[in-house]
Amino acid sequence: QRSGRLQGKHFLVTAGGTREELDPVRYITNRSSGKMGYAFAQALLEQGASVDLISTVDLPVPVGANVIQVKSAESMLWALQDRFDEATGVVMAAAVADYRPAHIADQKIKKESGAPLILKLVENPDVIASLGKFKQHQYIVAFAAETNDLIAHAQVKLQKKNADMLIANDVSQHDAGFGVDTNRVTILKPGVANEVLALDSKINVAREIVRRMAADLTEGE
Ligand code: PMT
Repeated sequence: QRSGRLQGKHFLVTAGGTREELDPVRYITNRSSGKMGYAFAQALLEQGASVDLISTVDLPVPVGANVIQVKSAESMLWALQDRFDEATGVVMAAAVADYRPAHIADQKIKKESGAPLILKLVENPDVIASLGKFKQHQYIVAFAAETNDLIAHAQVKLQKKNADMLIANDVSQHDAGFGVDTNRVTILKPGVANEVLALDSKINVAREIVRRMAADLTEGE
């Protein structure tokens, strides 16, 4: 029997970089390791929530999480859409590719020496903004991974993604963001002052944020 402030609540958590196929042997991706998303799954489970972890990576699964493996941004969107109505909230920690190859070649693309290879990319759907448009009760946590003007960019994303909370992540620092075990983030919420969290392990950062989500979600209960 579970206990914790989020008992009876259900979350969708995304983790890892999407893989956008180019041909049968190649894909385009990014530096996301999935660690931040897996830390959120763990922290939510610790508070008694149930978790669907929609993942592009293969990390040790937090005990009790239901993992759904996906690859591309589109397949991540479909996995979320199927489960969105029943969810209490979504934590969008995955690094979703903004673009994908316009065509997936059936055969391995051959090298033509001396000629540059020009790839045509098309825009991917904005996964969390698409869900945000249809949100009813769902609590949406989006992220912003930035290398410059962190808070200004994060503020725009908070609104654009219709998020209840935006985790701003300066990924230009060696001890925060992609791949490493630690993170340093600022929490933005509509209408309240921003909150800077100190550098800590990803699991502790996730626990701090989940504590704030739980406070918002159980207010008045
Ligand atoms: O996985 P780790 O190695 O542990 O690294 C953690 C992290 C740096 C990946 C994570 O903390 C983080 O910042 N994740 C968001 C990465 C990202 O895609 O940020 P963005 O600023 O490009 O996107 C803003 C938000 O919109 C994100 O919640 C993203 O998931 C979402 N998005 C982006 C593009 C798109 N087409 N669809 C989306 O839903």
